[in-house]
Amino acid sequence: MPQQQRRILVTSALPYANGPIHLGHLVEYIQTDIWVRFQKLQGHECWYVCADDAHGTPIMLRAQQEGITPEELIARMHAEHRSDFSDFLVDFDNYYSTHSAENRELVALIYQRLRDAGHINRRTIQQAYDPVKKMFLPDRFIRGECPRCGAKDQYGDSCEVCGATYAPTELKNAVSALSGVPPVQKESEHYFFKLGDFENALRAWLFPDITAPRHVQAEVANKLDEWFAAGLQDWDISRDAPYFGFEIPDAPGKYFYVWLDAPIGYMASFQNLCARAGLKFAEFWDPDSRAELYHFIGKDILYFHALFWPAMLEGSGFRKPSAVFAHGFLTVDGQKMSKSRGTFINARTYLNHLNPEYLRYYFAGKLGPHVEDIDLSLDDFTARINSNLVGKYVNIAARSAGFIEKKFGGRLAPSLDNPALLADVQAAAGQIAAHYESREFAEAMRAIMALADRINEYVDVTKPWVLAKDPAQTQRLHAVCSTNLNLFRLLSLYLKPVLPELVARVERFLDIAPLHWSDAKTVLTSHRINPYEHLATRVEPKQIEAMLNESKESLKMNEIKPAESTTSAAEPIKPEISIDDFGKADLRIARIVTAGFVEGADKLLQLTVDLGEGRTRNIFAGIRSAYDPKALEGRLTVVVANLTPRKMKFGVSEGMVLAAGPGGKDLWILSPDAGAQPGMRVK
Ligand code: 2FM
Ligand code: ZN
Repeated sequence: MPQQQRRILVTSALPYANGPIHLGHLVEYIQTDIWVRFQKLQGHECWYVCADDAHGTPIMLRAQQEGITPEELIARMHAEHRSDFSDFLVDFDNYYSTHSAENRELVALIYQRLRDAGHINRRTIQQAYDPVKKMFLPDRFIRGECPRCGAKDQYGDSCEVCGATYAPTELKNAVSALSGVPPVQKESEHYFFKLGDFENALRAWLFPDITAPRHVQAEVANKLDEWFAAGLQDWDISRDAPYFGFEIPDAPGKYFYVWLDAPIGYMASFQNLCARAGLKFAEFWDPDSRAELYHFIGKDILYFHALFWPAMLEGSGFRKPSAVFAHGFLTVDGQKMSKSRGTFINARTYLNHLNPEYLRYYFAGKLGPHVEDIDLSLDDFTARINSNLVGKYVNIAARSAGFIEKKFGGRLAPSLDNPALLADVQAAAGQIAAHYESREFAEAMRAIMALADRINEYVDVTKPWVLAKDPAQTQRLHAVCSTNLNLFRLLSLYLKPVLPELVARVERFLDIAPLHWSDAKTVLTSHRINPYEHLATRVEPKQIEAMLNESKESLKMNEIKPAESTTSAAEPIKPEISIDDFGKADLRIARIVTAGFVEGADKLLQLTVDLGEGRTRNIFAGIRSAYDPKALEGRLTVVVANLTPRKMKFGVSEGMVLAAGPGGKDLWILSPDAGAQPGMRVK
């Protein structure tokens, strides 16, 4: 009996628009995309929406630092994120932005409904304020000594050394990370969402009867129980200007906190899609909606999605999610992703070296329905791709296609061999579908590879290459190879949610229409196929190595390094100079406009730097061992602007770039702090 068509709306968390997509993010987008593709293959109506999370203080400051408007920054990041996702075959039906007209309207509507129903209150609070930058400081922008262990240079909310959490006022010798001056306490009126009003509704939603469907995973419900025990506090939903976000309609100068408008961005992205795809928004978001709504998120943002978000929806007359699916974090080789080891890998860096579908396959093999962290072990990655994907799966086609092409004019046999194996592989469709549905992707991959093992045993036993030598066995050879290709077609169908592009190539090779799950019931006989073209190549260890190296390189560019001397620490300090002597050096921020190699000089890069006001300089810098010139273009550095020009073998150098580090790869040109502009003097 054909199953009932479901209507499903799916989201992944919205990535912030101030940084690139990295492999940690991709766990979630790949997980969601596989699930969505599976639903579509089943013939369900399934929509997958996402957006950039475009608001908040870090985005405002980053734009300032780059000397551009927040709108310019978010437009650039949007384009980068879109292309990263698309190259990883994450197929959103809409990828939008929270800085959109639809979101502005929905945010205002939800706020007004909550306010009119009495769920918003106001009160004056004291907060850290930077008197130089003239702005309130989020906790992350306050640095100081940990009140518990005394570690220096810790964030305003928690200590990275001892793990303590505290209020920013408890930090010792606190300073603003923006200006370096101690923050002052200043009063301001804030708006709060009364989460406690929803305690009963949330309890009913989170802890339903044993017979009713769950909205969160069991382990999440346990965690939430602790939060209820701690008491549901009012949630501060406003921020003072300057802030990049939506102004609160009835409170000029006050803005909605980014975390209020971010989840509403799910709705806004869908609304934008509705206009394009002719869908009815209300059918998915009204309280009596029959559609299903799922949010895939990381475990760190559960509080927002399992408490604030359903409460906001409840309080403003919208439906609540069918379920929130939380996943764990990514570790690489068993450890937190690390910049210095090169394991903090950006999506683009991976793409420069490796096939995106390999990561999809690897993650699928690790993903389950629980909130556990998953590990990308690079050796295991290489082994699994080479032995499973290339060695077991692709090999089935590679071992049979040539015979069909050369000996049978590309046509499959009219009847197949080994009906028992075929029937087993066809019958596995139900179990594999159940694994996908329940997000047991690792189980699905295991089941598929177990079938691949059986098929390869069948090939080993029937030995097509031996049959091919015996003219009396031609018919059997035809049946065996045709059976193999049918088995391969079934495995391809089962892998299609994970490997959409590879399977599209399989569909072209087999000359068949795009596979749907129901095609598991059919087989191909007397069907003409296309010549086989190579479907996948092995991963080489040198590709992984090159990726890690590029990763170290590119992330070094984003680090702000302390001002050290380039001299090794062991060397004696030079004789004293007076402040007047020092004052003679005119240190300026400069933007590197172009950077390139210098022919015949293996240590140098030639830089053209912009000192503001149209003043450009040509500089030869001995930093080739540490930097790829292309990665330097557009970056800021510090330059001694009044050094007497020096004639060198390759041309005249009109200044000097400050660099720190022992040399070789470990050399950092100084990247200045937030708010820097070419031409600014460094003191
Ligand atoms: O944690 C984050 O990266 C947030 N930008 C996620 C937002 S998800 C949703 F609520 F919008
Ligand atoms: Zn500490």
